[in-house]
Amino acid sequence: MNILVTGANGQLGSEIKDLEQTFKDFNFFFRDVLDLDICNFKELQEFVDNKQIEAILNCAAYTAVDKAEEDNEIAKKVNTEAVLNLVKVLNKRKGKLIHISTDYVFNGEGFIPYKESDKVSPIGVYGNTKREGELSVINSDIDGLVIRTSWLYSSYGNNFVKTMLRLGEDRDELGVIFDQVGTPTYARDLALTCLTILSKGKDSKISTKGKLYHLSNEGVASWYDFAKAIMFLGNVNCKVKPIETKDYPTPAKRPHFSVLNKSKIKNDFEIEIPYWRDSLQECISKLNRKK
Ligand SMILES: NC(=O)c1ccc[n+]([C@@H]2O[C@H](COP(=O)([O-])OP(=O)(O)OC[C@H]3O[C@@H](n4cnc5c(N)ncnc54)[C@H](OP(=O)(O)O)[C@@H]3O)[C@@H](O)[C@H]2O)c1
Repeated sequence: MNILVTGANGQLGSEIKDLEQTFKDFNFFFRDVLDLDICNFKELQEFVDNKQIEAILNCAAYTAVDKAEEDNEIAKKVNTEAVLNLVKVLNKRKGKLIHISTDYVFNGEGFIPYKESDKVSPIGVYGNTKREGELSVINSDIDGLVIRTSWLYSSYGNNFVKTMLRLGEDRDELGVIFDQVGTPTYARDLALTCLTILSKGKDSKISTKGKLYHLSNEGVASWYDFAKAIMFLGNVNCKVKPIETKDYPTPAKRPHFSVLNKSKIKNDFEIEIPYWRDSLQECISKLNRKK
């Protein structure tokens, strides 16, 4: 199967690259914005036709949550309009799409882990543009599915884990928000799930067309808990103090609760999901090996 991985230099795209040798049946084409901009329909269509692409794993996105509040045009272009481009090029070829979305489609007023069927109500530009992108896939005729994930980190790119480790080396004390609760997700675990879904594809009795799934690591944490675990597992001697959201104002509002219920993806694809702290340990070990 010829698979195009868009946004291939980001966190998720890089983790997919690392798994290339594990999925030898797939012929991967890794592209990022400089060599294939998904906002450019003509370029995208030519690429997909020339390379006979049969599936697209869309790792491309505008992910700067705070910047999106002022850059809403570009966020909309990448997270909403470009997703429709992917749908259109695949429609013609009868190809498959795995598209990634976010826990930020929820307003966070709930207190029970969100199911796929729960009402969405994004509270920021990023969440809004990602929701519109989801709808383009779900309402299309193509064999496309959407996976919502949360609090993504990796040994690649910029993320909370790497920021905490860096700041922790320089400071004796850090204040981190404790009244936002969700689940950290190691991008490698998400990458593995995406490729497992693609490889089970044809043999599976489950139709994935228009389906929506939730996938994060197991368990629950606040950003404070996450930061404490990062310092502990990273062997960094920095005191982490719990602070409230109101004491750390940001341009974009974030949901206070965004834990995802993952029963549907676990049942449909018979996958096991690692506990967030175990995956964090793996990522930090990898970062230490890279040093
Ligand atoms: N990060 C999180 O905490 C988080 C949480 C929930 C869901 N998600 C979702 O998970 C998915 C993967 O996120 P990630 O953290 O891996 O993102 P990321 O690290 O920001 O990677 C996104 C990649 O897409 C590229 N890109 C941007 N515009 C593009 C375009 N027009 N055409 C092609 N590529 C483009 C980016 O390039 P530049 O860097 O040059 O812009 C970057 O390399 C996204 O759909 C995101 O919305 C992320």
